[in-house]
Amino acid sequence: MNNNPWLNKAFTDQSLKNIDNKFAPQTASQVDFLMKKMQLSTGDILLDLGCGAGRHAIEFALQGIRVTGVDISPKMLEEARKRTEIAGVNVDYRLCDLALLGSLTLDNQSFNGAVCLCESGIGVLGGENSDFSFLKMVYDLLMPGAYFVLSCFNSIRRYIRSKDTNPHFDYINSTMKWRPNIEYDGEYLSEIQRQYTPSEIKLLLQLAGYIDIQVLSCESGIFVDKPMGIEDIEMLVVAKKVD
Ligand SMILES: C[S@@+](CC[C@H](N)C(=O)[O-])C[C@H]1O[C@@H](n2cnc3c(N)ncnc32)[C@H](O)[C@@H]1O
Repeated sequence: MNNNPWLNKAFTDQSLKNIDNKFAPQTASQVDFLMKKMQLSTGDILLDLGCGAGRHAIEFALQGIRVTGVDISPKMLEEARKRTEIAGVNVDYRLCDLALLGSLTLDNQSFNGAVCLCESGIGVLGGENSDFSFLKMVYDLLMPGAYFVLSCFNSIRRYIRSKDTNPHFDYINSTMKWRPNIEYDGEYLSEIQRQYTPSEIKLLLQLAGYIDIQVLSCESGIFVDKPMGIEDIEMLVVAKKVD
């Protein structure tokens, strides 16, 4: 998508500062949680989809995981490469729109797991059809029995809180129009975000072939093994490829 906000440098700079301040402190404990939940061990290979500046990729690499990070933003990948070098680990970073993941040539064609965290894919690829093809492309890249973990917005919160009050929320299509009222490098950005209820995302994953789907809590970036709260902002979704 050419109008992806992450191709705008000023927006990306500001968002990265926000991620560093708000989300980065939870990264190590998130990766500890994911290592166990996804049954990963040293030497395994993992895809980090929408890897950004590499905060999860680096942490996984520090735990002995061989990571391929994919992102649409050259700026985020440039930052990821710098940070990876400083951390003294290796990550294979690739520039690619996740909507076109299937066309990316990767060194490995089969992974022990994949993550797509912090609204980096599902919901921002152009609607449920693109999200569904993305889920299938990830499925095809996983080894039998491997896990895919993603986080995305919980639309139930929107239905409860902004059905009548937020003109940017389309409750028929469960889409949110994101359009900040400021210019970034002289440009007004906008994006239509598809938001899902837990049962919708479960259904999409099931149709793509996944099993054992769990919708967990990740409020304030703390990943825990308990069901998502009905008004949580985001959900952490764990899905498995058939053995
Ligand atoms: C909020 S950041 C999160 C980054 C990282 N997952 C983290 O948790 O720090 C969202 C990331 O998704 C990437 N992204 C958004 N749309 C994408 C797309 N269509 N294809 C690939 N990456 C995308 C952005 O470039 C950005 O790095």
